[in-house]
Amino acid sequence: MAVTNISFRLATFFLLLHSAVAQCWKNTTCSGPTDTAFPGPWEANIFAPASRTVSPASILSASGELISKFQGTAQLSGNGSGLVFDFGIEVGGLITLEYTATGLGSVGLAFTESKNWIGEWSDSSNGGFKGPDGAIYSVFNGSGTYSYTMPDVRLRGGFRYLTLFLVTNGTSTVDIKDIKLDIGFQPTWANLKAYQGYFHSSDELLNRIWYSGAYTLQTNAVPVNTGRQVPFVVTGWANNGTLGPGDTIIVDGAKRDRAVWPGDMGIAVPSTFVSIGDLTSVKNALQVMYNYQNPTTGAFPEAGPPLLQLGSDTYHMWTMIGTYNYLLYSNDTAFLSENWAKYLLAMNYIYDKVGSSGLLNVTGLRDWARWQTGFNGSEPNMILYRTLITGADLSIWAGDTTDLNATWHGRAASLKSAINEYCWDTSYGAFKDNATATTLHPQDANSMSILFDAVNTTARAEDISSNLLKNWSPIGAVSPELPGNISPFISSFEIQAHFTIGQTERALDLIRRSWGWYINNPLGSESTVIEGYLENGTFGYRSTRGYDYDASYVSHSHGWSSGPTSALTTFILGLSVTSPAGGAWKLAPQFGDLKSAEGGFTTSLGKFQAAWTLKNDGYSLTYHVPQGTAGEIVLPGLSSGKVPSITLDGRTLQQETQSQLAGDSVVLNGAGGNHIIVVS
Ligand SMILES: *[C@@H]1O[C@H](CO)[C@@H](O)[C@H](O)[C@H]1NC(C)=O
Ligand SMILES: *[C@@H]1O[C@H](CO)[C@@H](O)[C@H](O)[C@H]1NC(C)=O
Ligand SMILES: *[C@@H]1O[C@H](CO)[C@@H](O)[C@H](O)[C@H]1NC(C)=O
Ligand SMILES: *[C@@H]1O[C@H](CO)[C@@H](O)[C@H](O)[C@H]1NC(C)=O
Ligand SMILES: *[C@@H]1O[C@H](CO)[C@@H](O)[C@H](O)[C@H]1NC(C)=O
Ligand SMILES: *[C@@H]1O[C@H](CO)[C@@H](O)[C@H](O)[C@H]1NC(C)=O
Ligand SMILES: *[C@@H]1O[C@H](CO)[C@@H](O)[C@H](O)[C@H]1NC(C)=O
Ligand SMILES: *[C@@H]1O[C@H](CO)[C@@H](O)[C@H](O)[C@H]1NC(C)=O
Ligand SMILES: *[C@@H]1O[C@H](CO)[C@@H](O)[C@H](O)[C@H]1NC(C)=O
Ligand SMILES: *[C@@H]1O[C@H](CO)[C@@H](O)[C@H](O)[C@H]1NC(C)=O
Ligand SMILES: *[C@@H]1O[C@H](CO)[C@@H](O)[C@H](O)[C@H]1NC(C)=O
Ligand SMILES: *[C@@H]1O[C@H](CO)[C@@H](O)[C@H](O)[C@H]1NC(C)=O
Repeated sequence: MAVTNISFRLATFFLLLHSAVAQCWKNTTCSGPTDTAFPGPWEANIFAPASRTVSPASILSASGELISKFQGTAQLSGNGSGLVFDFGIEVGGLITLEYTATGLGSVGLAFTESKNWIGEWSDSSNGGFKGPDGAIYSVFNGSGTYSYTMPDVRLRGGFRYLTLFLVTNGTSTVDIKDIKLDIGFQPTWANLKAYQGYFHSSDELLNRIWYSGAYTLQTNAVPVNTGRQVPFVVTGWANNGTLGPGDTIIVDGAKRDRAVWPGDMGIAVPSTFVSIGDLTSVKNALQVMYNYQNPTTGAFPEAGPPLLQLGSDTYHMWTMIGTYNYLLYSNDTAFLSENWAKYLLAMNYIYDKVGSSGLLNVTGLRDWARWQTGFNGSEPNMILYRTLITGADLSIWAGDTTDLNATWHGRAASLKSAINEYCWDTSYGAFKDNATATTLHPQDANSMSILFDAVNTTARAEDISSNLLKNWSPIGAVSPELPGNISPFISSFEIQAHFTIGQTERALDLIRRSWGWYINNPLGSESTVIEGYLENGTFGYRSTRGYDYDASYVSHSHGWSSGPTSALTTFILGLSVTSPAGGAWKLAPQFGDLKSAEGGFTTSLGKFQAAWTLKNDGYSLTYHVPQGTAGEIVLPGLSSGKVPSITLDGRTLQQETQSQLAGDSVVLNGAGGNHIIVVS
């Protein structure tokens, strides 16, 4: 009896403790998941803190040397004295400072993601070269106790380091009693560790990279009233812009732009789905694009409000592809019905730009940071191909009765011929940047041609994959279309391209060089993925070649660079959904140089999970998917070439299947439930 009582009290105590810790952002209604879908040791790799309220991990000197762990207190004494508080990971939100002071003066607060810009000036977030972010100040006017909370408009969306410095004419001393950060991102989640997906492999670096992508996406899911103010302020920063409907919305970056960018979502959304599983932020971001569509022309803006940049054919199409991705993961047919007429208008708008040669004539010139755009650019044509193919599926899901499926598949086929006829460079073995004479063979169009299946032969795809290696440096792929720069956004397409044609080792090599370089870089956030960087290993993305950005303007937490998160799940684990909510799925593992991998994700139908482990001369593969679903399983052959024995749930499969597996892969039909396949 007594024992029961104690455990009951203990349980109550922990419940109370839990509810005291669990909180959503300000007065936002909690609507996110409360617990992880897949408990296990991999949760140790989650960068997100257990509580929305966090304190710094350590104190550094003003010049960046480690002084000590942060125990809650610190002292500033005399004008210009400063200390740097390191949160150890990327964070964002509103700081509250508790301190006592003597004399007159102020405590300055300055923020930076990279250690390069610790000091009295924050890194740049407000508009690049337009003006310095500087610092904000808590003023004190005499001996006493002070509590300072940053005003909402000054929310700092992404930083790792907080510099506190003292400005005084006299001999003031400030005793810091407490520093707390109220985290502003993923506002509807009470438990920031409540991931709906996971990934765990025998490669610790890949695991960390997967989780750095996932955490980045959490920092990019923001309260809808915390976008960057437009027009940009000239000094300081203002994050009080209204971004769209709902309570939470996916933006491009934590620090900046804090705006909806549909092209970025082309990478960010698949990675969101397999990791945190926050599709509400995705839905709100897409809805705002539909809300701001030009009702006459059908054009979508390039970016959501308040930024609302216009004039991008590629980002227009990314809203359309984004609609497909969202439907594929969610099966939210109500969303599709509500926006279907607008989608049709958008399709007419873009397809009207296809000329007599069958290629898109690009007139909405804005795009990702690539240098050259326009004409019959190869990259926009690859994206149009993907738009038509995904549009055909959407037309079926929307219940269209006018056979748009056939019409759009027909258009896709003629576009594919035109692309392969006019854009291919036979002498080089890759696509040119456009259909006219050019020696540029871009990373974006070539990667997308394989991933989107726009290249018309396997031989051409193999040539592209090999020729892409020519762009590689020790720290990543240098984009020919943005010279001197490494784009983990475009490299996110490249790794998927290599995986798509089974060039597993190449894909893993690029992930380790590029994302591995950043996650292990002590000058970075060590917890997120960066927007871009320079070939020489500095952070001045776009600071070369016609752009005029401050090197500190780069975002260190940018979802468009999270490609390894979806790629490792889709291709290494091999698990993906192929029809809405996973009614149909695919399991096609690639081993590379790994020994094991497991992972899963969640849809409205339930949990999807798989795991494989290599054995001496073969492997075992288990999968656990909702009843009533059906899948395609692609079993890799054995490298030894030996004719293996295959068992499914202990039953030996027929000889014919086994001899196939001795050479190449073999395809099986998979059913719902729990199953184990052993190949030995
Ligand atoms: C709380 O919600 C109300 C109504 O939605 C909103 O106007 C107000 O700004 C919110 N307050 C805070 C502190 O976010
Ligand atoms: C206080 O220190 C700052 C640098 O932190 C300097 O710019 C300023 O001139 C100093 N003011 C006085 C009164 O010494
Ligand atoms: C410091 O001195 C300057 C110049 O006299 C004055 O303008 C300023 O208000 C003083 N600051 C404080 C915090 O007393
Ligand atoms: C300090 O400023 C506060 C708020 O403006 C004011 O209420 C208080 O009277 C001031 N104290 C002194 C000593 O000037
Ligand atoms: C945001 O803050 C700026 C600067 O404080 C202000 O001018 C602007 O009106 C505010 N905008 C909104 C949407 O609240
Ligand atoms: C491309 O579009 C522009 C603007 O509408 C037009 O001037 C040009 O003639 C078009 N080019 C081709 C090859 O269709
Ligand atoms: C490509 O675009 C250029 C410029 O608009 C045009 O002159 C040329 O005919 C186009 N080529 C093809 C194959 O569409
Ligand atoms: C859609 O069109 C494709 C290509 O013609 C075809 O393979 C597929 O069966 C069609 N789907 C439906 C549901 O009609
Ligand atoms: C691929 O495209 C080229 C160039 O148009 C063409 O010659 C070739 O026949 C195509 N191959 C296939 C298999 O469609
Ligand atoms: C084609 O691409 C190259 C390289 O991006 C560019 O210099 C050129 O202006 C583009 N357009 C035409 C019509 O050649
Ligand atoms: C890296 O390259 C940029 C752009 O060319 C240049 O400004 C910077 O000085 C270089 N940094 C180093 C350390 O080489
Ligand atoms: C998707 O939604 C449609 C329409 O609501 C429904 O009929 C279908 O069963 C759903 N599919 C799945 C896999 O949940």
